[in-house]
This record gives sequence, C-alpha cells and structure tokens, in this order.
Amino acid sequence: MPEGKLITLEGIDGTGKSSIANMLKKSFPEAFFTREPTQNWIGKAVKRSIESDGDPLAELFLFVADHAEHIAKVIRPALAEGKIVFSDRYSDSRYAYQGVTLSDDFDDAVAWVQGIHRDWTVVPDLTILFTIDPAVAISRCGVRGEKTKFEKLEFLKKVQDNFLRLAKEEPRRFVIIDAENELEDVGREVEMKIKDFLKK
Ligand code: TMP
Repeated sequence: MPEGKLITLEGIDGTGKSSIANMLKKSFPEAFFTREPTQNWIGKAVKRSIESDGDPLAELFLFVADHAEHIAKVIRPALAEGKIVFSDRYSDSRYAYQGVTLSDDFDDAVAWVQGIHRDWTVVPDLTILFTIDPAVAISRCGVRGEKTKFEKLEFLKKVQDNFLRLAKEEPRRFVIIDAENELEDVGREVEMKIKDFLKK
C-alpha cells in the first residue's frame, strides 16, 4: 500500500490552477509535482486529440491510457517512497470534462467514466477544487491565448457543475477554493489548507 500522500489540483480552464501549482513548488520544496495530461508520448497523443477534432470516446481512452501509465510509472512509485505528490489535474478532470463530451452517449456519463477507473486508479487523499465564474475563466483563457475546443462558456459551465457534483459526492476528499480572488491570496489559502491536511 502506498505510504505517501496524493494531492490533486482540479478546476476548469482559466482558474489559475497551474500558477498556484508553481507557487506550491516553493512552499513544499520536498514534494513531487506532476500533471495530467503527462509529457510522455501518450500525453502528447492526448494533446493532439484535444487540439483537433478527436472522437470523444477515442479521446477518453487516450486520457485513460495516459492516466494508467502515469499511475504505474510515476504516482505509485513516488507514493511508495513516501512522497507528497501533487498532480495538476488527475482523474476528476476526466469525470468532469469527459462527463460533458460524452453526455449524449450515456445516461450518466460522469458515472460511466468513473466506472472505468474503478479498482485500478489511485484515489487522491485530498483534492483542491478551484471554482470561478466560467465567464471570468473564459476571459482569462482569452488573455492567455490558448484556445482549445474546451474553452467555451457553455461547455465550461457544465464541466464546473460536474466538478461540484463530484465534490458533493466526496465532501471529505474535496476542498473548494474560490479562484476569483487575487492569485497571491488564493495561493496562501491553498497552502494553509494543505498544511492543515498534512498535520492530521
Ligand atoms: P491543461 O490545460 O491542464 O494542459 O489540460 C488540457 C485540457 O484537457 C484542459 O482543457 C482540460 C482537459 N482535460 C480533459 O478533458 N480530461 C482530462 O482527463 C484531463 C487531464 C484534461
């Protein structure tokens, strides 16, 4: 059984989540930082799919393959060494995003996507969920200039609703953070919540 702790950072595009991850690197220098999609060849295939018009089901399985490789090669070994592991996006991104891209194909796509992770994924010990008005998030994405097919208002509203549903299902695992405040303040709040969690 893994001995370390797995902390994931989740939320829609434009919450500032990745900037917060960079701040956390300074606050937790001993921790190990990783992300999904990964930088390996499967992660690159994921990127190709989301930057083009990939079939949603094929795209889901690319994300899932990336997750499986990530768990086997990175997450489990780091946890076995007793590390605190931070992942910028992880399985909840799949439940929330692919829960929307596949919503026409399944009655409850979120539950279906959760189902294909069951029994092999490593469930995070703590998940920080960054929430924001999706309109503000879109304007931030615009400033950043990274336009993927996911950075659309109606889509991100549904993704955020899915994230909030997941948080409701597992209130002990999730901490919800309002990402509309100043980045520095958000960073400090997150750092405090993580320190409290690690003290327990
Ligand atoms: P990134 O912006 O964090 O690099 O993630 C790329 C995009 O992929 C982002 O819009 C979120 C989306 N995504 C999914 O749709 N499903 C997933 O499982 C993951 C990890 C990301």
